[in-house]
Amino acid sequence: MEILDGKKLAGEIKTQVKFDVENFCKEHRAPMLACILVEGDKASEIYVSSKVRACEECGILSKVVRLSSKITQTELEKAIDNLNKDININAILLQLPLPPHLDSNLAINKISPLKDVDCLTDTNLGSLFSGKNQLAPCTAQGIMKLLNKYKIAIEGKRAVVIGRSLLVGKSVSCLLEQSNATVTICHSKTQNLKSITKDADILVVAIGKAKMITTEFIKEGAVVIDVGINRESGKIYGDVDFENVKEKCSYITPVPGGVGPLTVACLMENTLKLSKRQYEGGTNSYTSC
Ligand SMILES: NC(=O)c1ccc[n+]([C@@H]2O[C@H](COP(=O)([O-])OP(=O)(O)OC[C@H]3O[C@@H](n4cnc5c(N)ncnc54)[C@H](OP(=O)(O)O)[C@@H]3O)[C@@H](O)[C@H]2O)c1
Repeated sequence: MEILDGKKLAGEIKTQVKFDVENFCKEHRAPMLACILVEGDKASEIYVSSKVRACEECGILSKVVRLSSKITQTELEKAIDNLNKDININAILLQLPLPPHLDSNLAINKISPLKDVDCLTDTNLGSLFSGKNQLAPCTAQGIMKLLNKYKIAIEGKRAVVIGRSLLVGKSVSCLLEQSNATVTICHSKTQNLKSITKDADILVVAIGKAKMITTEFIKEGAVVIDVGINRESGKIYGDVDFENVKEKCSYITPVPGGVGPLTVACLMENTLKLSKRQYEGGTNSYTSC
């Protein structure tokens, strides 16, 4: 069994982004990422801080737009529109989840597709699913980079993804299919989950339930990618019971230190890509889409 070291790869990606940003800045101002943080979720505070730190490491400017947990949908959308119009902002990230009274799908779709750094607007997801977009949601992109880094064969393999969120499950399924895996998506209504996962050469788990996936879900020699981040009594657990499963698989991601750091590194890469596109396309100002 080999550990898929997401932290190490994330470091390499950030080093490359830093180098590319330095080159970019010879002719343009530094890329700038805006993170919208609606207060009230402790984990979101931690994630946004780590994104700001990564920006500092890579020479990317960042701005955190903090909004009260009591903000209305209209006020949230107004804040997004202000960032769309701000020519100094190249990339916008809406940190999820939002408080239950807010509609995240409506809010995400207020982000200009030109600045949609996590590729979650309907426009950008449409391009992704039709194979036209060069940007993908950061977590899905990070998973693909990890598989490629370790030269894990994807073509012709049976991939099973547990979870069907746009943010993770659906987008990584799409990228796996585009790499010629045969993909099955499972969710909370899937029957006989174990019988499906036991066929998986590559198993991606994005559920949000600590240690749910144990050895009886795993095919001998499978590649296991654990996306889950579950905080319990001050500790972080994945969706996979790592200790229970590790000897049965060929490769496995740890939590922490697996997919999480790659999400942040790909966010840096996407911010730079959007900035370049905006300059190359002459759209480094707000364009209504
Ligand atoms: N590492 C990272 O960078 C990163 C990034 C994003 C998210 N995450 C983590 O990844 C996990 C998933 O995130 P998400 O945003 O995709 O969550 P989500 O939107 O809540 O989706 C969870 C998915 O799991 C499915 N599910 C729930 N219980 C299940 C069960 N017993 N059996 C099979 N499927 C089940 C749900 O099915 P239904 O659709 O039927 O409800 C849903 O599709 C969370 O722990 C989150 O914190 C990590």
